[in-house]
Amino acid sequence: MPVTAPLPHLVPSSPPDEQTDRSFLRDVLAGLGAPRKHLSAKYFYDRRGSELFEAITRLPEYYPTRTELAILDHDGPEIAAGLPPGAALVEFGSGSTAKVRRLLPHLTDLAAYVPIDVSEEFLRSEAEELGRDFPRLRIEPVAADFTKPVTLPDDLKDAPKVGFFPGSTIGNFEPETAAALLGSFARTLGAGATLVVGIDLVKDKAVLEAAYDDSAGVTAAFNLNLLTRINRDLGADFDLNGFAHQAFFDENLGRIEMHLVSRRSQLVTVAGVPFHFASGETIHTENSYKYTVAGFRALARSAGWEHARVWTDPDGLFSVHALTASTIRRH
Ligand code: SAH
Ligand code: AVI
Repeated sequence: MPVTAPLPHLVPSSPPDEQTDRSFLRDVLAGLGAPRKHLSAKYFYDRRGSELFEAITRLPEYYPTRTELAILDHDGPEIAAGLPPGAALVEFGSGSTAKVRRLLPHLTDLAAYVPIDVSEEFLRSEAEELGRDFPRLRIEPVAADFTKPVTLPDDLKDAPKVGFFPGSTIGNFEPETAAALLGSFARTLGAGATLVVGIDLVKDKAVLEAAYDDSAGVTAAFNLNLLTRINRDLGADFDLNGFAHQAFFDENLGRIEMHLVSRRSQLVTVAGVPFHFASGETIHTENSYKYTVAGFRALARSAGWEHARVWTDPDGLFSVHALTASTIRRH
């Protein structure tokens, strides 16, 4: 079958959000115009950004991916056994779909798999590849920003819903926003839904900092690719040699912070708007919060999710939680 032929069970993904480009420009201008310059981590993920993230997941220093995969391999049958039959499995920030591939063999009667991702081109190609590997699975990709209300495909309205949010992507949000996001997932999935979430755990600062500043420089390339994307998509003139990658763990806030540090005093223009950078001034590009099991449980409860089960690796590096939506809160 030619690679471009539509797969029998792959439903075409939803059309691109026409607002996307305008929101990107608005967010970049607002972030660079703020007293402490910042950009949203969701903009890392153009096609190249998704590929660089996949390269990060294979780095020796980046323990989260291999550890979560090991948990899913070891405990996948038990995790799957707790899920309702005939469910629609909705993954938030599905990326390469590597994680769901470990669960799918244990979930033989799914109504459908709905990968949601903002990296649209990557979402389409990964969904196609998954369709080739799981030909009987109905796959309904949705290209969307999951921080906004997401409408699930209409044909799945009667199926029980299971949310899947691996990779500790929730750690990229401030705890208050993370709680709001969990609340909005409960509204998207509906009463009685289950959510399986992967959460990176607090650990030694040196281990954490190496994971976000690897010796091969892949995380640096991932961080700097944001400037390449802004240059290309928004007509900016960032000099990539003028900025350096920085990552550190803030023990008080319990988070890794990633920044791009200006190597000199310089002026950058984005869509005709000039921004001055002092030497050493940074753009804050990402937070990655780390939780304790109890801390994440409390966060989930505050968003209306009851904690059902938790699975961790023997070294206590990473955790996978099963939650059930007890009450659906409006906001
Ligand atoms: N779940 C995968 C990928 C994690 S990387 C894993 O565990 O390895 C984070 C993923 O979330 C990327 O694929 C990125 O494109 C997507 N993403 C980030 N912010 C998003 C948003 N606001 N809405 C939808 N997808 C988002
Ligand atoms: C997607 N997210 C959970 C990753 C993380 O670990 O915070 C993104 C990342 N940033 C740098 N390395 C990986």
